[in-house]
Amino acid sequence: MVAVAILAAGKGTRMKSDLPKVLHLLAGRSLVERVLDSCNLLQPTRQIVIVGYQGTKVQQGLSHRQKVEFVEQTEQLGTGHAVQQLIPHLQDYEGDILVLNGDAPLLRPETLQSLVTSHQTHKNAATLLTAKLPNPQGYGRVFCNEENLITQIIEERDCNQQQKQNNRVNAGIYCFNWQKLAEALPKLSTNNDQKEYYLTEVVDYLEPVMAIDVEDYQEISGINDRLQLANAYNILQTRIKEHWMRAGVMMLNPESITIDETVELQPDVVIEPQSHLRGHSKIGAGTRIGPGSLIENSTIGENVTVLYSVVRDSEVGNNTTVGPYAHLRGSAKIAQDCRVGNFVEIKKSTLGENTNVAHLSYLGDATLGDRVNVGAGTITANYDGVKKHPTNIGNNTKTGSNSVLVAPVTLGENVTVAAGSVVTKDVPDRCLVIARSRQREIPNWEITSR
Ligand code: UD1
Ligand code: CA
Repeated sequence: MVAVAILAAGKGTRMKSDLPKVLHLLAGRSLVERVLDSCNLLQPTRQIVIVGYQGTKVQQGLSHRQKVEFVEQTEQLGTGHAVQQLIPHLQDYEGDILVLNGDAPLLRPETLQSLVTSHQTHKNAATLLTAKLPNPQGYGRVFCNEENLITQIIEERDCNQQQKQNNRVNAGIYCFNWQKLAEALPKLSTNNDQKEYYLTEVVDYLEPVMAIDVEDYQEISGINDRLQLANAYNILQTRIKEHWMRAGVMMLNPESITIDETVELQPDVVIEPQSHLRGHSKIGAGTRIGPGSLIENSTIGENVTVLYSVVRDSEVGNNTTVGPYAHLRGSAKIAQDCRVGNFVEIKKSTLGENTNVAHLSYLGDATLGDRVNVGAGTITANYDGVKKHPTNIGNNTKTGSNSVLVAPVTLGENVTVAAGSVVTKDVPDRCLVIARSRQREIPNWEITSR
């Protein structure tokens, strides 16, 4: 049985921000939310977030999550003081508690799980996650005996020159036997450079306290300032891209590509430089994205190409080509074997199979059948200044270049629209519609010079 408590009451002075540190976003999710998520695998019996500085904002930021409890630390007198606030809320709790700094968003769930498992198999009073860092600056230093039992933790600012040489640091991730911790917490002093109650001081009152080194030290990176936040984003990106490359995705110049964790890719997807995949996007096998494309909350089929284009909240079927310079948005649904070409914008429209919109068009609120050919420059005039109206186009219909379809309007099947037409009325199947003034030639007419 394990409960989880997250320390999220600090202001995060070093962020130089109005927003509480733990609410800063890292690739779409706040730091505290990421810490909470890293505990999911453990199925914690309780999830407690200790809030203080702008506590209501932090609570609001987590209001969509069920089962999260909030405990207030009204004055921020240190990490030990923060954990002391738990005592009245865990009076009857027997079991272990995982305490995590709210600013460590890169933890892997497996790491926390093995921390808890080690803690329980060794029957420790406390087990701490530690790491040997190439640059330990800013972290508390952990001193152990030869059996990895911790003798002391000293914050950097309290270290002498020799102690600073120790590069084994405290990750701020702890598993405690709650009963023993609750007995130790009242003993904390403020006997340190910051005159704060340090949680790390509990190691002086607990036994045994074991240190476990994390395999990949990047996981424990604490975010204290904007540089560390940007660096964490890069670490996260490297992780995501390595994962997909191992799963069979090809990336050209991966440094220039960004991919959200929520994206799903199939083997043999090719991602070209300067492409960005965001939100809940799915991309099918053999599809080539980029160079220079943005895909957001969209589902792209197999063997599609999306070249220098933006696809948002939309669906694209197998073997369709998009771009260069196309923009699909607002739930555009493009079937398979279509072509959406140069400088085409499609909003909230459905295209049937084998339908082409190859050049310079705007389709909004339109429903197109199969094998439709939308001529260059065809526009659906879907907005009368007040309301949006639908356009329907039947199978096999062809619109001429520069035609305007004034919605609401329906073109039947096998209709041909003459170039330059402004179609304002419905057109039955198998018609040629010409809606423009007839060409006249006025002979012997020329501009007379003065
Ligand atoms: C802390 C550890 C340090 C460790 C490092 C790892 C202590 C004394 N030091 O230092 O050994 O190497 O984390 O990143 O614990 N918080 C509260 N209430 C408070 C103070 C802080 O909730 O009164 C929260 C903060 O919001 C933050 C977390 O505790 O999420 C850590 O606080 P921070 O000030 O960043 O601690 P560090 O100086 O980084
Ligand atoms: Ca910190």
